Amino acid sequence: MPYLPDLGVFKRVQSSLSRRTVFEGNCVEQPAEADNQNFRDRVKQKAGKAQVMGGMIWVYVGPDPAPELPRFDVFVMDGVKDCGYATLPCNWLQIMENSVDPHHVEWLHGYYFNFMGETQGFDAPKAFQKKHLKTGFEEMEWGILKRRVLEGATEENDDWKVGHPLVFPYFMRVGGAGIDQMQIRVPIDDTTTWKLFYSNHAPDGGQWEPQDRPVFYEYFWRDEQGRFITDYIEGQDIMAWVSQGPVTDRTQEHLGRSDAGVAMLRKMFKENMKRVANGEDPIGTVREPRDIIPLPCERDKFGAEREFAEAFITMGSMRYSPQKQQLLDLHADAWARREAKAGAGA
Ligand SMILES: [Fe+2]
Repeated sequence: MPYLPDLGVFKRVQSSLSRRTVFEGNCVEQPAEADNQNFRDRVKQKAGKAQVMGGMIWVYVGPDPAPELPRFDVFVMDGVKDCGYATLPCNWLQIMENSVDPHHVEWLHGYYFNFMGETQGFDAPKAFQKKHLKTGFEEMEWGILKRRVLEGATEENDDWKVGHPLVFPYFMRVGGAGIDQMQIRVPIDDTTTWKLFYSNHAPDGGQWEPQDRPVFYEYFWRDEQGRFITDYIEGQDIMAWVSQGPVTDRTQEHLGRSDAGVAMLRKMFKENMKRVANGEDPIGTVREPRDIIPLPCERDKFGAEREFAEAFITMGSMRYSPQKQQLLDLHADAWARREAKAGAGA
C-alpha cells in the first residue's frame, strides 16, 4: 500500500517532514511512558518502511530488505503540483487493464464525449476523436510502453516515436504539452481502489513558485442521483471501470487483436507473481538509489499542444482543482512567452 490512507493525518504529519525523510520503523514517542524514556528505544516496527516523495508519504509493506523507493520523474520534477483523488468501488486491476487499451480514447473520449457535447450543449475536445491507424505494445524496464499512430500523423510523431508507459504494477504515466501526470491505483481491498491523478505542470517558458507538495482535492464521479458524471474525461473512464462491476468476470470475455496490451499485461502479472513466489524481485524493483527515474512520455500530444493542455485541465479531473485558474493562467502565459520568443527569433 503506497500511501497513508488518511489525508487529514497525512497533512498534519507531512508538515513536519523534510523532502527525503525516511522512516525506519523506530518508535519516536510514547506520551504515556514519560517516566521511562528508554522504553521507546527497545521497540521497533519490524515490517514496512516509509519515505516522503513529491509531497506524499510512500509506505512499503513487504519482506526485508526493503527496495529503494522508485523516484519516478513526475514526483521529483520541478513545477506546479496538483493531485485529485477519489475512492472507487471496483477492483484496481480493471483500471490497470484500461491503461493498455489505446482505442478507448477514440471512442469513449472522442465520439462519446462529442455526443455528450451535442446533447448537453458544450464543445467537446476534438483531439481525442482522431482515428487510431496503428497501436503497439512493448515490454520495457518499468512495464509496458504503449504507442499509437493517429489519423493525419506518422511514426515520426511523439505518439509513436516516444509513447508512454504503464508502470508495473499500479501506475500509468501520461502527459504532454507541459503537463506530466502519474495515475496511481492503490488497492484498498479487492473491490475498492483509491485513484489518484498526480500532475506536475511545467510548460516551457512558464514561471512558478517552488512548491513542496501538491494541492490535494477530491474529484467527483457520481451526481446526487447516483448517476455517473461523464461530461469530463476521467468521469468517462470511471463509468467504464465501475460499470464492469466490483470485479469484472473475465471468463465471459472475448479478447480481440486490439486487446494485445491487455493480454501482455496479464502475462506480465502471472510471470511476476511466479518470480515473487520464487523469492525473486518483480520487474521495476529498484535496489540502487537513484535521484530520478525518467520515463518516456510524449511532449507533443495528439498534434494539439495548446488545445490539449487546456482540455486536460478544464475537461479532466483537474476541473475540480482549487488552483484550476492558476494552472490555466500558467499555461496561457507560457504559451504567450513562447509565441513572443518565436516571433522575436523569426
Ligand atoms: Fe481514458
